[in-house]
Amino acid sequence: MLLDHVIFSQQFTVPILMELFNRTDQMRKIVKRGGTLDYQKKIMATLFYAPSTRTRFSFEAAMFRLGGNVLSTEQAKMFSSEIKGEMLEDTIRIISNYCDIIVIRHHEEGGAKRAAEVSSVPIINAGDGSGGQHPTQALLDLYTIYNECKTLDGLSVAIIGALDKGRTARSLAYLLSKFERTKIYFIAPEEMQIKQDILDHLDEKGISYELSSTTDKIINKVDVVYQTRIDKDRLKGKEMDLSVYNIDQEVLKKMKKNSIILHPLPRSVEISHDVDTDKRAAYFRQSENGLYVRMALISFLLDKNSQ
Ligand code: CP
Repeated sequence: MLLDHVIFSQQFTVPILMELFNRTDQMRKIVKRGGTLDYQKKIMATLFYAPSTRTRFSFEAAMFRLGGNVLSTEQAKMFSSEIKGEMLEDTIRIISNYCDIIVIRHHEEGGAKRAAEVSSVPIINAGDGSGGQHPTQALLDLYTIYNECKTLDGLSVAIIGALDKGRTARSLAYLLSKFERTKIYFIAPEEMQIKQDILDHLDEKGISYELSSTTDKIINKVDVVYQTRIDKDRLKGKEMDLSVYNIDQEVLKKMKKNSIILHPLPRSVEISHDVDTDKRAAYFRQSENGLYVRMALISFLLDKNSQ
């Protein structure tokens, strides 16, 4: 059955995405009213084995705004029984007896899938490993594009950063591949380009894409710039000018007037702070949308499981 657990963004169909986005619009209104008590008997557990600000806080705020309760461990690697050698599968078997839904960020690629294989309640992947996926980030990214651009068809999207290990970039590419006439430009240093599995998927779906190591000649023709971090530690002493990937006032001048800039955040230096006041800078609206999208997803999964 579709969506018993949310592990990969490929699981979402266009009708389910549209249902979730309609729910998301409702959730925005519900939050404006202060929330609902509709899910007051429900419990969500959040198990984060790797650091997070936005994802954990927005999931937990989402559950509280729905009227539910949250069980949480701040740093599961240290404050769960993993430190005594307990395997992930045992931890999930136990915790799934205490709650109605589990949100997990695991340091290993495939961690959320392993959890889903033994859980008696829905598992939501809040990011697995480096190079895995972050499907709920992609949902809020796509919702933001829809909300800002008013369409998901015929869009040109530049995805910039260390894309080989970029789980948000990977998950977003899978979602974008579901829409008509999408064009994706993957912009990254050559050794950090998007992996072949994504390109194979786009080929299978007939989605047009280009690979580039510079933003020149691309930034002026896209509707969406999806910027991500490039971790300097990965350069291992190599000389490389990463500032060519940054978005600053000069890059803004070249961008289309009605384009938008997204970033999953946190950012480092790749978007100058003076870009924030430009109306095309949509990344703080994007992170706010994370609350509404996650409320929509939690309520969708809880409703589905109580039928
Ligand atoms: N975008 C994102 O996943 O942010 P956090 O790591 O702060 O959760």
